Amino acid sequence: MGYRILAIETSCDETAVACLNGDKVVQSKVFSQIDLHEAFGGVLPEAAARRHLEVLPVLLKDVAKPDLIAVTAGPGLLPALLTGVSVALGLSRGWQVPVMGINHVVAHVAAAALERRIELPVLGLVVSGGHTSFYLIEKWSDPKVLGWTYDDAAGECLDKVGRALGMKYPAGAEIDNLALTIKERVTMPLPLKNEDSFNFSFSGLKTAALKYKGKISNEVLAASLMEAVVNHLLDRIEKVLKKYPYPLVVGGGVSASKFLRQRMHEHFGERVIFPSAQLSTDNADMVAVYAALLLQEGIVPGSCVTPDPNMEQ
Ligand code: KG4
Ligand code: ZN
Repeated sequence: MGYRILAIETSCDETAVACLNGDKVVQSKVFSQIDLHEAFGGVLPEAAARRHLEVLPVLLKDVAKPDLIAVTAGPGLLPALLTGVSVALGLSRGWQVPVMGINHVVAHVAAAALERRIELPVLGLVVSGGHTSFYLIEKWSDPKVLGWTYDDAAGECLDKVGRALGMKYPAGAEIDNLALTIKERVTMPLPLKNEDSFNFSFSGLKTAALKYKGKISNEVLAASLMEAVVNHLLDRIEKVLKKYPYPLVVGGGVSASKFLRQRMHEHFGERVIFPSAQLSTDNADMVAVYAALLLQEGIVPGSCVTPDPNMEQ
């Protein structure tokens, strides 16, 4: 039997648990809280934390004692992180097994390692509801941030415009479908056109999109926004690939988008690597596999984890 890792993920509005046995995920559960937060058009941290506390014992009911517990330590919502970390520490003490704190954003990149061998160095791009960042990963234990967003994350921009157009939270998947089916577009600006950096900015696109509201159909508006978000990503990826001639692993909820995947493959072919879509959105499998990769690099797990809502890398 392989080394067994139990992983817990509670950084935002998904309660997730996974068991990795060697290189195989033998159990994976994701409980989405979307119904709870939908009415507010966003995630309420305290409500999320309470729901995590209700759901975790149910998800963990039949889990056997592992060799290691991996838990998301940050970044994320503090009350939400605290629930996962507290439960992980309780289990770690009870079972007398070590615990390892995991970076949620880098774990989105590590997710791809569950489905294929990832040879380092690689570039990572995480496009989610809370983050849009490039990483240079020469070692899993020492990821370097190459760029991030100055304002909104890509998913945040989609969700906010979607909300203004009366769509359900989170709007990303609905907007993605519109971009695939609607061919008509209005023009949108290319953010940071003259800035030679690996950073992002999505708030200008949000403003540009909302200026069209009521003047054109919501469908064309949403499709045009998705196209503009992807164009901005393509522009930055081109820059980063010029400097670093490595494969690019793309993760995070927005990268579940079929439209985004099509465009990225058209532009960069096999240089861009995606995990399957269910591994792009939040899950605990990615937390488990990141812990396994860290162990392979000789990182020694301990007996304590401190949640860090602003964890950078
Ligand atoms: O990674 P994730 O599940 O949670 C965070 O860590 O933020 O990402 C959630 C984001 C939301 O903004 C959601 O609208 C977006 O991912 N999203 C999508 C799709 N599925 C989820 N965006 C575009 N196309 C999709 N299919
Ligand atoms: Zn995420």
